[in-house]
Amino acid sequence: MRLSVTLRRALATLVLATAFAVPALASEATSEADAQLVQSVMAAQAAEVAGETPAASGELNPLWSEVKAGETGRTTSDSRFHNNLINTYDPNLIQARAGWLSQVLTLALFGMIVIFALFVLVNGAAKLEKGFSGVEVLRWSKADIFIHWLMAIPCILLILTGLSLMAGRFVFGSFLGPEGVGALAAIAKPIHDYMAIPFIVGAILAMIRWMKHNIPAAYDLKWFLVVGGYLNFGPFKGKHPDSGFSNAGEKLWFWSFTIFGLAIIGSGIVMLFPEQVDPSRTASLTAIFIHGISAIVLTGFTVVHIFMATVLSEGGFPAMTSGYVDENWAKQHHNVWYDEIKADGTIQYKQG
Ligand code: HEM
Repeated sequence: MRLSVTLRRALATLVLATAFAVPALASEATSEADAQLVQSVMAAQAAEVAGETPAASGELNPLWSEVKAGETGRTTSDSRFHNNLINTYDPNLIQARAGWLSQVLTLALFGMIVIFALFVLVNGAAKLEKGFSGVEVLRWSKADIFIHWLMAIPCILLILTGLSLMAGRFVFGSFLGPEGVGALAAIAKPIHDYMAIPFIVGAILAMIRWMKHNIPAAYDLKWFLVVGGYLNFGPFKGKHPDSGFSNAGEKLWFWSFTIFGLAIIGSGIVMLFPEQVDPSRTASLTAIFIHGISAIVLTGFTVVHIFMATVLSEGGFPAMTSGYVDENWAKQHHNVWYDEIKADGTIQYKQG
């Protein structure tokens, strides 16, 4: 069955309206009747997503069914996907983004901060058992430190602005109001776009350079069993499990960072360069979805990583400022690495 001109025009509007997730904007050329038609079709679509019975979606159900069955119309779009009026699974992705994806991302940041702050308060820091020796050992080169901050600073900004863009309207909208959400998005969007570039460069360099430190070893399992010796109570207290240059927790962080970092970079490129990538509507929505899931994992891990590096591990932070760590820190937290560089003569002490 061919669709009437009116219906075609209405469906073109529907495609644009749902694609950009804004309320149906009736173009000047679209009559009031067309606009009502669009709204009715959207209502039928929303009813279906909400799992309501076909009867609830009203008399336009036949039209909705035809569109779902692949009925084609004509639009002014010259995209190679212009004939694809609708995918029945797209609304689920839009709803997931507005619902649990935004909520879990918010929890991954604020929930993890609260959980870890409480943990540090109860557990206390992992102190250096023998105190500071005053002798410092080289751990990271200047290039490594530069790469770390090249990705870390943009990453923190990407987390904050990304959360504003994804959850701003859905999680914070009720107290920010529409103007507040709009202002937040206007600030967040350019920061998010521009920070993506140094993050991508830094992250890929880090993945390549640091992979050699993160090859799993047999003793990593034992490290997990005693939670790395970071718990100051019960059978875990005072334990110093074996660890190479990176401990098992850092290895887990590195590989999660590599897997979800590549996923966030790939999906981000689809969204950042739509002209060049030319994704279908479903591909765009899938990219948003993959981006959100990866952001949840990276945000949660980043909070833990920052807590570990700044407050939990006494003596660990200078590793990423001067590149040197106290010799007692190296012996306590990375004994296998320390023994290796001592034995093969590559150990470098800080002069003066
Ligand atoms: C204020 C924020 C941050 C601080 C203070 C910090 C601190 C540190 C320190 C001290 C190390 C060295 C650990 C060691 O020598 O064993 C390190 C390593 C690392 N950091 Fe950060 N970091 C921060 C943010 C980030 C962010 C946002 C990312 C993610 C993009 C990140 C990714 C990494 C990675 C992948 C490693 C190497 C882990 C390994 O391969 O062993 N850091 N960081």
